[in-house]
Amino acid sequence: MSNKTFTMIKPDAVANGHTGKIIDDILQAGFKIEAMKYLQLSRAQAESFYGIHRERPFFKDLVDFMISGPIVAAILEKDNAVESFRTLIGATNPEQAAEGTIRKKYAKSIDANAIHGSDSDANAAIEGSFFFSQFERF
Ligand code: CMP
Repeated sequence: MSNKTFTMIKPDAVANGHTGKIIDDILQAGFKIEAMKYLQLSRAQAESFYGIHRERPFFKDLVDFMISGPIVAAILEKDNAVESFRTLIGATNPEQAAEGTIRKKYAKSIDANAIHGSDSDANAAIEGSFFFSQFERF
């Protein structure tokens, strides 16, 4: 699925009223929205989604943050989607994010970093199918 990626607009950006501006940035960058959902994760869901980070020191803070409020999950389509989307959102730590990127504009810290983007085609398929059953066969 090299033309698809998965994203979540995180609780900080939703709570701060940035959802509409971030979706507009995504559309202006040429992505097509294939599916979108507004929901609040349970602790079990957040622990499962971020299971790859279970042994990392920031895991508990990450899960606590991700269940602190609603998120927006989406499947996006564009050529070279994973890499193109990671360029649009900027570095994980907003202090290191390039000017004009979503994290530079809307993120406050490495935890409250406004948005998630899959880091590979394989993870985009796993993460997309976590939220959207129609994408199980990516
Ligand atoms: P995300 O792309 O959603 O994937 C894992 C998240 O963990 C990451 O964004 C950050 O918000 C958060 N995180 C907190 N501390 C770190 C860290 N030291 N390195 C990477 N990610 C971190």
